Order: sequence, then C-alpha cells, then structure tokens
Amino acid sequence: MPDAPKSDALTLSFTSFTRPRGVLVTFCGENLKFGPATQKTLAAVGDLVRRAAAADRFTGKNGAILNIVAPAGLNLPRLIVVGTGKDAELTGRDVVKLGGIAMGAVPAVAAEATIFAEFGSGALKGDQIADLVLGARLRAYSFDRYKTKRKEEDERPKKVQLHFACANPAAAEKSWAEVAGTADGVVLARDLVNEPANVLYPGELARRASALTKLGVGVEVLDVAAMKKLGMNALLGVGQGSVHESKVVVMRWNGGKRGVEPVAFIGKGVCFDSGGLSIKPAQGMEDMKGDMGGAACVVGLMHALAARKAKVNAVGAIGLVENMPDGKAQRPGDIVKTMSGQTIEIINTDAEGRLVLADVLHYVNKRFKPKFMINLATLTGAIIVALGHEYAGMFTNDDKLAERLSKAGEATGERVWRMPLGAEYDKMIDSKFADMKNTGGRWGGAITAAQLLQRFVAKTPWAHLDIAGTAMGSPQTDINKSWASGWGVRLLDRLVADHYEH
Ligand code: BES
Ligand code: MN
Ligand code: ZN
Repeated sequence: MPDAPKSDALTLSFTSFTRPRGVLVTFCGENLKFGPATQKTLAAVGDLVRRAAAADRFTGKNGAILNIVAPAGLNLPRLIVVGTGKDAELTGRDVVKLGGIAMGAVPAVAAEATIFAEFGSGALKGDQIADLVLGARLRAYSFDRYKTKRKEEDERPKKVQLHFACANPAAAEKSWAEVAGTADGVVLARDLVNEPANVLYPGELARRASALTKLGVGVEVLDVAAMKKLGMNALLGVGQGSVHESKVVVMRWNGGKRGVEPVAFIGKGVCFDSGGLSIKPAQGMEDMKGDMGGAACVVGLMHALAARKAKVNAVGAIGLVENMPDGKAQRPGDIVKTMSGQTIEIINTDAEGRLVLADVLHYVNKRFKPKFMINLATLTGAIIVALGHEYAGMFTNDDKLAERLSKAGEATGERVWRMPLGAEYDKMIDSKFADMKNTGGRWGGAITAAQLLQRFVAKTPWAHLDIAGTAMGSPQTDINKSWASGWGVRLLDRLVADHYEH
C-alpha cells in the first residue's frame, strides 16, 4: 500500500512585512492598537479600518474578527483583523489559539493569504511565531480523502499558500522547524483516528507505524505467534473473533544518552470495538472506529519526538486488535491468563481495552524497565459522564508525574483531571473464579477500569489517561474542526521536552 495521502494542502512560507500577498490577516490589541508593520501597511487606507471597526463594534477583544472585503487603497482581496485583547498577558496556548482563529478567518475560496506575525505591542518572537503557525496548521486540517466530489466554487482550492510575515523570516522558519514535527505528529494521530476500520485494521495500523523507521525510529511488530509465545492471552482473547490478526507494535526512539532508562508510552489500539459478544447498541457504534485513539497518540508522539530529534530515550508500544462477535470470539465467563501470570474472568467482552493494556503494560515494564509508563486509552464511557469532553481522566500512582502532566496540560490546552485510585475500588474487581474480573459493576466505571490496569504495572511510576472524551467527537475548537483531535501528542511532547531531555 502506498503512503497515506497528505491530508492538508497548506504550504507555509516566511516572508518580511513588505508587500503582503492574498488575503491579509493581522492582529490588534484592545482599542485598535496595531503594531508598527501593520500601521505602515494600513497608512494607505486612511481611516477605513477605524470606520469599519466602528460599524462592526469591533474593538480588538481577544478572538474578535473584523473582516473588510476589497479594502479601498490596498491591492488586496480582503483585510482581516483579529483581536488579541491585552497581548502582554497572552500565553503560548493563547497564541496557538489565535493562529487557529486567524486561519479560520481566511475564507475557503482564498488560495493565498499573508498573516502578519505581530501583535499591537510589536513583532512576535520566534517561539510565538511557531505557536501561531502551529495553530494555523492544526486549524487547516481536514480529513477529506474519501470525498470524491468537490464542490466547484465554494470549497477550498486544492493548494493554499500561507505566508507568515515577520521581522526575521529566517529565524522564524528555524523556530517553526522545531515545532513542525509536533504538528505533523498531531496530524498523523488525527488521520489514524479518522480512518475507517475497514481501511485501518491492526495490520494496516502496524504498517503506518512502521513508516516511522524513515525518521530513525526502530519499529518491531509482534504477530500472533510471537504474542502466544510471550503468553499475551488477554490481548489475544480480545482479537480472536476478528478476521484481522492482532499485533503489538514496539517503537523505539533513542535520542538520549546510551543506557539511560527510557520513558514509555502505551496505547490502546482497538481498531474497531463492536463490543464483541456483549455487543454494543447500533446507535453510535460507528464511532468505535476511533477506539484506537490511544495508539494513534503514541504513534503521533513517537513521530514528534523523532522529527524534532528529542534528546530522550523513548519507547512507544501499542496493542492492536479488533473486537468482534464471531463463532471464535471470546465469551463472557471465559478466564484468560495474562502474560504476567494473573488470571482475568471476562464478565463483559465490551470491557476489552483493559485486557489489551494489561498485557502490553506488563510486557513493556518487564522488557524495558522504564522510568515511567504513561498509557492512553479510550477506555470508558464513564469518564465522559464524569468529565465531559474537556479534560481527560488521569489515574496515577505517582504525585510527581501527576503534577507534571497537569502543568503540561495547562500549557498545551490538553488538560488532565486527576481521579482517585484506592483499595476500596480495587476490591470491586475481585472475582469468584479468577484473580480478577474485567468489570467492577455500574458505579465508578472509569476507576475500576484503572484499578485493573494498576495490577499490571508493579511499582513503576505510571499514569493512565482515559481519553474516551477527548480523542474524538469532542467539541470543535479554534484549532480543530475534525472529528479526531490528535489529543495527547502535544501534551506528552511537552512533558518530555520540559522534564526528560538532557
Ligand atoms: N471503547 C469503549 C469506551 C468508549 C465509549 C470510548 C465511548 C469512547 C466513547 C470501551 O471499550 C467500552 O466499551 N467500555 C465499556 C465498559 C463497560 C462494559 C464496563 C463502557 O464504558 O461502557
Ligand atoms: Mn468496549
Ligand atoms: Zn473499547
């Protein structure tokens, strides 16, 4: 199969402030405070902007947009002003968002646009420009590879050229180069989650992950025979009703010092979750093509780390299965022996993600003795009941990891909310027949799922992120209009950059 088609048609370039091309987007602070380059450009239009702003009651509040078509005096199709509010108070996360808003203001028919990388108080620094570009890039993403009929006039042209005007284009380009790999990682994760399950089954996801070898990532694919040998019967049990062979993919990026213990990321990769014999209702079942959002994030993250040559040793491992009903499928009542030796009684075949992760967590812990393990999984509907679509649930045995993940979440906007773990919850998954059962009853469903995972991580610092509410189908934002969000790539890339590189 050839490489997946590129999912966005944006070409980026960095230029000076002179002679903007196409639609011009610029920024202003409150009370129409423009930066010097913008003032210079707008000198040609007299009081046009002031009059337009008054007519629209636009004052430059953060996120507000003033749109002037065919501005008299400027040889441009359109002038767009995006308000920043008080720009001295803006964080990196705010700047990313403004990049998204700026991109979103460019009309679909435009083939070319110039964004002035300056706020009311002046030109942006390199890392701010990179944040602005990141927001624009993520906003421009759309997953349309299966749309064969393009509407003639009212859709985006095939190629869109986006220029970022800045004081020092060469320096800006360099700053962007450090962030571009992370953006590509997010886009990759979104693509994987958006892909339908008839295209993206375990073998195909393994192949897409294997493409990371081009960036210097070592990739191993374990097939069913290898997993049988290792004793990964919990994972294999989930996949046994599918015509698609289960896989585990191990990705390794060794950008750190030789011999230094790696950090490890583990993803749930249920390429389709029908529920198995405990079959799900038809309503909304199509969303379960995204039940590999954890695995997609890990692949996207490994892409990001390798692309920016992060100085860290990192392992990414994903458990890939399809959960289907079939004559060969796992039954409620079945008991499986995990690779760790612990046994699990299957109460509900729809509680399958924890079974997959139980084996992959144990495998990674035993083989790599990592500094920490962070797993991501679209694990429970219960976490959506608890937190909605804004925060992912974070369960962890390590306060330091909790603190660092929370901070990285606030910085990137991919936020996590810590949930409890404890002996009382753990008891709820004790089984009559085996060491544990795979469901803990109706109450605290996200917590009992996490308790099961914890039984497979021993004493290793570990965090489980339940991303059922954030990986897909979450509300559209200024930097994502797609169903899949690519949630977690920026969070974990930031965590690594802030604490684990040397
Ligand atoms: N993949 C689902 C969880 C899910 C639900 C993800 C909605 C995204 C959106 C998971 O495998 C599942 O089915 N969980 C069950 C567990 C139950 C059977 C104990 C659930 O949450 O209902
Ligand atoms: Mn399920
Ligand atoms: Zn699932």
